[in-house]
Amino acid sequence: KPGVTDGARGLRFAPVGPNTADQVTVPAGYAQNVVIRWGEPILRGAPAFDSEKQTAKAQAGQFGYNNDFLSLLPLRGEHGRQVLVANHEYTDEVLMFRGYDAANPTREQVEIAWAAHGLSVVVVQEEHRTGKLTPVTRHHLNRRLHTTSEFEVTGPAAGSDLLKTSADPEGRTVLGTLNNCAGGTTPWGTTLHGEENFNQYFANGSSATDKRYGVGTGATERKWERFDKRFDLKQEPNEVHRFGWVVELDPYDPESTPRKRTALGRFKHEAAQPRLTEDGRPVVYMGDDERFDYFYKFVSSKRMKKGGSRAAREHNLTLLDEGTLYVARLTGDSPAAEIDGTGKLPNDGEFDGSGVWIPLATGDVSHVPGMTAEEVYVFTRLAGDKVGATKMDRPEDVEPSPRSGRVYVALTNNSNRGKAGYAPADEANPRNANKHGQVLELAEHWDDPASDGFAWRLFLVAGDPNDPATYFAGFPKEKVSPISCPDNVAFDPHGNLWISTDGNQLGSHDGLFGVATRGERRGELKQFLTVPRGAETCGPIIQDRRVLVAVQHPGEIDGASVENPASVWPDGPGKIVRPSVVSVWRTDGRDIGV
Ligand code: FEO
Ligand code: CA
Ligand code: CA
Ligand code: CA
Repeated sequence: KPGVTDGARGLRFAPVGPNTADQVTVPAGYAQNVVIRWGEPILRGAPAFDSEKQTAKAQAGQFGYNNDFLSLLPLRGEHGRQVLVANHEYTDEVLMFRGYDAANPTREQVEIAWAAHGLSVVVVQEEHRTGKLTPVTRHHLNRRLHTTSEFEVTGPAAGSDLLKTSADPEGRTVLGTLNNCAGGTTPWGTTLHGEENFNQYFANGSSATDKRYGVGTGATERKWERFDKRFDLKQEPNEVHRFGWVVELDPYDPESTPRKRTALGRFKHEAAQPRLTEDGRPVVYMGDDERFDYFYKFVSSKRMKKGGSRAAREHNLTLLDEGTLYVARLTGDSPAAEIDGTGKLPNDGEFDGSGVWIPLATGDVSHVPGMTAEEVYVFTRLAGDKVGATKMDRPEDVEPSPRSGRVYVALTNNSNRGKAGYAPADEANPRNANKHGQVLELAEHWDDPASDGFAWRLFLVAGDPNDPATYFAGFPKEKVSPISCPDNVAFDPHGNLWISTDGNQLGSHDGLFGVATRGERRGELKQFLTVPRGAETCGPIIQDRRVLVAVQHPGEIDGASVENPASVWPDGPGKIVRPSVVSVWRTDGRDIGV
């Protein structure tokens, strides 16, 4: 087993072992604090959290529920402060409300849930010489955006008939953002937020496109359609088309209206992370997190302007409205007969091959026969179906390496791979009934992110290292930590990839791992922390001095409730379980993992 001083620079810590402790477990010599919890007031006038007396009005000024993606942005002129942006993916009513009656939610409960979704912007204060962070309440940049906040629709599908509703006959203004999962941070200082499982909020779907997007035909579990008719597709069939986009937020302008960027397509957007071409055009990589769905990129036709001038900032806020949307097709280089669905490596010793980016639409021009450009943007999954994109094992978060440019895609699992009626294993998705997932590494031709082709290989095939159907970039498996269900990915300042997990199938709680991507230690995966019972590990952010994780849905176990909690994190017995952001740092004050 690796020791404290072993490992690539940035990964020299004693790994945390698999465990089921109801806490955040960190390596020896590291400390932690809860940065902010669900319900902590961030806006002027918001009251302190009281789980027994929660109101929608209070929640609208408090940190939301189920924090997922995190971004930390610099705040010039305010010493020791940074701007934290967080996604609030969804609500767990049964863990929020004592005596919750799922068949008959009250209007107040539904409106609390509306206010607990969305995004938070909160300035955080660093503690001198540690990695501890605390919220600066009532800072003028602090902001909440939720289910009734205004969002502007931009790009080629803005104003499309497919986006018009009785409340918005122009098809350009949407109330709310829903199910924001992972996201990204742009080099021009904005944040991107993927609207993922938006289908679950809409009742009475009936069209073929509703079906392709997983919208149910009956009532929803949360019953929001009883309290606002726009969630009932029988009454507002287009409202669901207004969700499933990438949202761009300017956290430095508290007056700005966030935008839904239609040029990036509509699907269950997990995340969106840009990289610039040599001439300064952003390329955004994006996964559609569903079993057998696709991996995409958007290439802007406009160059980013540098500098903080008002003109540059305004220009940069148009970069994601013009360009070309592509979907990926991957081809393995080994004979199909050598991919037997067990995860056994083919004879060339690697799951690898080549790929092409298939263009779907450029501005108002569709590249998909039988579909208009508007249809390509609004029903992007159908466009991917038509052009023969590769059906992946749930593309989750994606991150281009800031050092090498290689793009890392977490493919979390796919229980249906190889089952009757479903696609069989292929070289990029090589295990049938895939329980543990894999991480794909993609290298664009000529290292140009705007390229129309790429090479790829599986970097990790996750699971118990003792399981022959696992692979850690060829690194000796007796020296790595077990990992299952990779979800969010991020890079540290040293160029190591950090991977957080959701749904560990190896008997341990979920956690956060670091792995070298280059050099002799490429593939040496080490676990940095684990999260409490029922939680998934989100965020993550790795700075020199601290690691931030969002502990999402702690206590989410079948049958658990406020009265019968499965977790008492973070405040202990008798206190309600609360999704929260945690910061971890070294007690000796040195950088993480050096
Ligand atoms: Fe919300 Fe795909 O995780
Ligand atoms: Ca091969
Ligand atoms: Ca996720
Ligand atoms: Ca990420």
